[in-house]
Amino acid sequence: MTRTVQNELEEIKSRGLMRSTRVINGRQAARVTCNGHDLLLLCSNNYLGLADHPALAAASAAAIEQYGTSSGASRLVSGTMELHERLERAVASFKGTEAALIFNSGHAANTGIIPALVRKGDLVFSDRLNHASIIDGILLSGARPVRYPHNDHAALALLMEKHVKRHPTGRCLIVSDGVFSMDGDIAPLAELVALKRAFGALLMIDDAHGCGVLGYRGRGSAELLGVVGDIDIQMGTFGKALGSFGAYTAVSSELRNLLINRARSFIFSTSLPPAVLAASLAAVELVQTPEGDQLRQQLVVNSRFFRSSLAEAGFSIPDGTTQIVPIVIGSADNTMQFSEALLAEGLFAQGIRPPTVPVGTSRLRFTLMATHSEADLTCAVKSICHVGQRLGVI
Ligand SMILES: Cc1ncc(COP(=O)(O)O)c(C=O)c1O
Repeated sequence: MTRTVQNELEEIKSRGLMRSTRVINGRQAARVTCNGHDLLLLCSNNYLGLADHPALAAASAAAIEQYGTSSGASRLVSGTMELHERLERAVASFKGTEAALIFNSGHAANTGIIPALVRKGDLVFSDRLNHASIIDGILLSGARPVRYPHNDHAALALLMEKHVKRHPTGRCLIVSDGVFSMDGDIAPLAELVALKRAFGALLMIDDAHGCGVLGYRGRGSAELLGVVGDIDIQMGTFGKALGSFGAYTAVSSELRNLLINRARSFIFSTSLPPAVLAASLAAVELVQTPEGDQLRQQLVVNSRFFRSSLAEAGFSIPDGTTQIVPIVIGSADNTMQFSEALLAEGLFAQGIRPPTVPVGTSRLRFTLMATHSEADLTCAVKSICHVGQRLGVI
């Protein structure tokens, strides 16, 4: 049969995997309006509420006033503005590295950095549950991927033993999410550091969901696990806890130079505009202040309350402490039914289906925000239990 757009869409639909967008009116705050309904937002990555923070909005507005609306070109043409360099210095100091480089998004960072580091003849060891943008980066690189079981450093050691010996001349990269985006658990960073040393590999951590949130100063999973300075390539995004948009990698000056010369998503794309850079800069500064500490502490309180309330009610909640709380339902249809039933109760929690998660593990992925109130979360837990009982999940 010829593959028409129509029959392709029908095939997606028949598998229960049809996706569509839902319009939010107003800001990405704890409560949003959608189709005229007031909803508690439980699926945004705006973990600290900074997307709605006046300091970021003021910095953006001032930057537009001073620098205009666009960077006008790629960084290597005329698009490097002083704000790019100021943000890079701030990120390097925040993450404890010699240098940093800004990318236009997390996806652009991963698809730019990985092919810049490895190529045909090299090896990439990648956690099975790594984000899609890492997988895309590996595919683009042409390097040989070796996927290891999720967070299983003992299995990774065996795989490295087997494969690195066969490729004694190639470069070798280990890559992992810091906080896994759909599971909310944290990678065993100390063990990954030990393995990269033992095998002479490079280690890259994507901390999109840890940056701003984890660690005493919000520096991310490396700070939480005491390995700041031991990771070769720390990547993170500005579009989640930092309430802005774009991504960074914190690296040595040498690696920064290599990325400037080799990362195609950096070289061949117009750079981020002033409004976005200024909001990111304000966010990096804010998360290191007492206000940042207080927001992080509130997020921990909210995450603990939500996790323990759902577990006590009988839901199977994976071990963990982060703000990402999955309830694995299994089938895509049942997951979307749960999500729709929650919408009717005034809760916006997106169902997550393949290919974002493995087949048979469709889930509701709840995300907590520091700006959720205790009353909101208490009501939310009640509604989730009510729907869970009605649908036979608990
Ligand atoms: C772990 C991880 N890496 C990278 C990305 C991509 O980042 P961005 O949304 O900035 O493209 C995401 C999600 O969006 C993510 O969850």
